Amino acid sequence: MATAFMAIAHRGASSYAPENTFAAFDLALEVGARELEFDVQESADGALVVIHDDALDRTTDGAGPVAKQTLAALRKLDAGSWFHPRFAGQRIPALPEVLARYAGRARLHVELKGKTPTLAGKTVECIRSYAAAGAVTLTSFQKERLAEARLCAPDIPAGWLLRTIAGAEIAAARALGLAQLCPKADIVTPELVRSLRAAGFLVRAWGVASEALMEQVVRAGADGMTVNFPDRLLAFLARNPPGRA
Ligand code: G3P
Ligand code: CA
Repeated sequence: MATAFMAIAHRGASSYAPENTFAAFDLALEVGARELEFDVQESADGALVVIHDDALDRTTDGAGPVAKQTLAALRKLDAGSWFHPRFAGQRIPALPEVLARYAGRARLHVELKGKTPTLAGKTVECIRSYAAAGAVTLTSFQKERLAEARLCAPDIPAGWLLRTIAGAEIAAARALGLAQLCPKADIVTPELVRSLRAAGFLVRAWGVASEALMEQVVRAGADGMTVNFPDRLLAFLARNPPGRA
């Protein structure tokens, strides 16, 4: 049976607002997205914070590793001005705040970005405390984080972000009980989608750097993608409904 294409706002509507902030997530919902992706890592005092890079320098007015700062220190940083002055005052969100604000309004694709062995367990605990497990997919590039997630949350679907996919990855994904394989968009072809589907996985792309690549992923028959410009993906899907059986 056909399922809806997963049009996932990558770090929010991050082409138009500073990534991984309320501004970007709110805007994604405003343009019609119902799936949000964001990155989680741990602060020095073990809080869960939503930020992509290991370091603060690119997306805040702070500097150095996220993991060396307490939640209180991270909360003081400006995570919006780097993108445009009108976003001054946007903060690095804590995971509980994101769950409180968006659970029930969107499916949440939570990427386990940090490298700490406690990250998956704490993230799952937090998700459960907001009764959000039914509307979450956990993802990671790190097989270790996925294994930890599967151990404590076999009920929450999980996807592995990969740059290349061969037999070894498919076997490992099967052993872990993953629901999704997530190839980089530039390797997504109809053949790859068919083979991963035949192996029992949903195929959800990432790294969609252009509209041409976005269209290629849809036409290849994939199940979804993260994209910085969800408005353009939704418009394309409205004009070109994915015809999957
Ligand atoms: O869709 C997943 C995507 O977010 C992976 O790449 O670097 O943006 O976390 P990155
Ligand atoms: Ca991510």
